[in-house]
Amino acid sequence: MEALKPPLKWAGGKRWLVPRLRRLWSLFRDRRYVEPFVGGLAVPLGLRPRRALLNDLNPHLIHFYRHLQRGLAPQIAMRNDSALYYAHRERFNALICSGHADSAEAAALFYYLNRTGFNGLCRFNQQGEFNVPFGRYKRIAYMAADDFAAYRAALTGWTFLHGDFTRLDIHEEDFIYVDPPYDVEFVSYSKEGFSWDDQQRLVSWLTQLPCPMVASNQATDRILDLYRQHGFTVRTLLAPRRISSSGDRTPALEMLAWRNISPRDWFED
Ligand SMILES: C[S@@+](CC[C@H](N)C(=O)[O-])C[C@H]1O[C@@H](n2cnc3c(N)ncnc32)[C@H](O)[C@@H]1O
Repeated sequence: MEALKPPLKWAGGKRWLVPRLRRLWSLFRDRRYVEPFVGGLAVPLGLRPRRALLNDLNPHLIHFYRHLQRGLAPQIAMRNDSALYYAHRERFNALICSGHADSAEAAALFYYLNRTGFNGLCRFNQQGEFNVPFGRYKRIAYMAADDFAAYRAALTGWTFLHGDFTRLDIHEEDFIYVDPPYDVEFVSYSKEGFSWDDQQRLVSWLTQLPCPMVASNQATDRILDLYRQHGFTVRTLLAPRRISSSGDRTPALEMLAWRNISPRDWFED
């Protein structure tokens, strides 16, 4: 089945990893595909599993996908215009405040704010209000109703949940791909609130599951050790890195680690 482009901009998107994961997925394609940190949906839209359980802690992301699945047809104006952006941001926050964060209007606004706001960030203040500033892109290609319709068929048969990964009910016949927020070594907290304790909690949770699984993360020394100590086969590869504001083009080293998978050589070129 044809790969579809992710509809949102999302930090840490793994579209670049799809060709390699496709090789692995081809061994398990009749299973249910489970992604506990689904983010921008890049991998399932690349692999196109028939059945999937897709989860993320971010409820707005999951509301948006559920509307996409039912056939989202945004009824709001979409223009790359700062005044319109701030008006839509205010309306989105009013919907959250009044308990309508799961409405079709909130889903359409979430899409617009994601495409138009600064770097596709999704950030909230202490009061729970979305507070990302206007993005200043030169041009934005917003999707039209027809483009949204293409996702409807792709998302049929997929279940979307929001919450912490530990709440997922995993079965022996599943296949899991986990892509948590990156481990950031040498700082005591991570920007996305995923701490070193969370990284350890994730690996302990994974090792109790009976199905084939693959994990990706930034290849820091402590992450490589953690996965090795828990019986994973661990490899590293170069990830493309976006040019940062400092002009740094250094490719980042990414880890892929797997368990309950044979043949063991699926990864080698
Ligand atoms: C690196 S991104 C995943 C990117 C995704 N694989 C893609 O290709 O777009 C990590 C995601 O984990 C989510 N997340 C953070 N903490 C979580 C938790 N405790 N349980 C589930 N999801 C969580 C974040 O909201 C974020 O979307």
